[in-house]
Amino acid sequence: MLVSQAIISLAFLSLFRISTAKSQACKPNTWLNLAPIPTPRQEHSTIAINDTTIAVIGGIIPIGNIFDTTDVMQFYDIPSNTWRNMAPTPYKVNHPNVAVVDGKLYLLGGLINGPEIPNVSINWVASADCYVYDPAVDVWRGLEPMPNGTERGSAYVGVHGEMVYLAGGMTVLQPTYQDSLAMVTAFNTTSGKWQRLPPAAADIPEGRQHGVSSIIRDTFYVIGGRWFGQMNVRGTVFKLDLNNQAAGWQTSPGYMPVPRGGLCGDAVGNKVYTFGGEGNPNSINGLFNDTEAFDTTTQQWTKLVPMAVPRHGTHAVAVGNKVYIPGGGLQQDGKPVVINGAVHLFNLSAHFDTYCV
Ligand SMILES: *[C@@H]1O[C@H](CO)[C@@H](O)[C@H](O)[C@H]1NC(C)=O
Ligand SMILES: *[C@@H]1O[C@H](CO)[C@@H](O)[C@H](O)[C@H]1NC(C)=O
Ligand SMILES: *[C@@H]1O[C@H](CO)[C@@H](O)[C@H](O)[C@H]1NC(C)=O
Ligand SMILES: *[C@@H]1O[C@H](CO)[C@@H](O)[C@H](O)[C@H]1NC(C)=O
Ligand SMILES: *[C@@H]1O[C@H](CO)[C@@H](O)[C@H](O)[C@H]1NC(C)=O
Ligand SMILES: *[C@@H]1O[C@H](CO)[C@@H](O)[C@H](O)[C@H]1NC(C)=O
Repeated sequence: MLVSQAIISLAFLSLFRISTAKSQACKPNTWLNLAPIPTPRQEHSTIAINDTTIAVIGGIIPIGNIFDTTDVMQFYDIPSNTWRNMAPTPYKVNHPNVAVVDGKLYLLGGLINGPEIPNVSINWVASADCYVYDPAVDVWRGLEPMPNGTERGSAYVGVHGEMVYLAGGMTVLQPTYQDSLAMVTAFNTTSGKWQRLPPAAADIPEGRQHGVSSIIRDTFYVIGGRWFGQMNVRGTVFKLDLNNQAAGWQTSPGYMPVPRGGLCGDAVGNKVYTFGGEGNPNSINGLFNDTEAFDTTTQQWTKLVPMAVPRHGTHAVAVGNKVYIPGGGLQQDGKPVVINGAVHLFNLSAHFDTYCV
């Protein structure tokens, strides 16, 4: 191809992408496909830096025929529907706990590759490492690590003013064993110190990881997830009034219509939207396709349009009235799925779409 033709094609392509993103109106309760992530990816975290930029942090990506924990961080620009690579995370991490406070991105622990164990294909263990990233200069800076005994990944994270709250999570993930914590800790971004909560708020009612969290009007919601293994899915909603922590955690009367773990979700207005997950004994690939919203004003659930491309092992982030869901797994991890006679145990996806609320 001639250079000039290539330039024209590229220009056309980028124009086309922009117009695609801008012209497609967001009809309520529909799915809209966006530019795929540059690499298939799962077990990452997703967060909005601001109203135009979404960050995807860590996770696992394919390395040849296998996959490995990654330090890749990518930003998605909503107006142009394009991706770009940013400074990698200071350590390779999956299931990272992340938050944005005052325009800065906090990476608080997560799971890292642990020592190799004979005959155990995966051994991911908790990291205590904490860093803050400044998008203005694309630089990471070290923070006080998580106190001994509180390090974990896959926690339920919520931001309340200067505080980042972490509820539950896990310290080890192996193919046949994973734990599930109940502890709640908080990082104070002003003092740079970790804090414990009053005794009544120091633990959620039962161990949880791989679920959805949100803080709406001073109440921290810990939704769904699982207790130890992939199949022990849970449909509970735990809640804590952060302005009255001494009153402790409560369990909402509103249970998820379909209890799920490995799901993703985020809040728009007074509702928390939840999507997908794994641990479904009734589907061939082990996935849930459900979209369900929890109304925090009525404490009731509503079923919505299922995921167009069901996934687990991703995070969702709401910007405006859209909930963005980058990547994830297309089948339950480690579950043998036969395609054309070949057995597949994982299926990482670069698919990126958004649910229009
Ligand atoms: C690992 O698996 C092999 C083959 O199944 C077996 O012979 C060996 O004893 C196992 N090793 C350990 C440490 O369990
Ligand atoms: C959002 O953050 C990105 C990354 O730092 C930056 O490039 C962009 O200008 C910001 N947008 C707004 C509207 O502040
Ligand atoms: C961390 O806690 C473990 C037990 O949970 C203990 O064995 C270890 O010595 C502690 N490490 C430090 C640095 O305090
Ligand atoms: C966070 O730390 C600052 C500085 O030490 C302190 O003034 C503030 O009260 C702390 N915030 C909370 C919610 O504990
Ligand atoms: C969602 O999953 C359920 C159960 O696995 C299945 O019966 C249903 O057809 C799926 N719906 C869509 C729209 O894929
Ligand atoms: C991954 O999932 C896609 C979509 O379901 C399917 O077309 C593909 O065959 C799968 N690949 C593997 C290796 O499982």
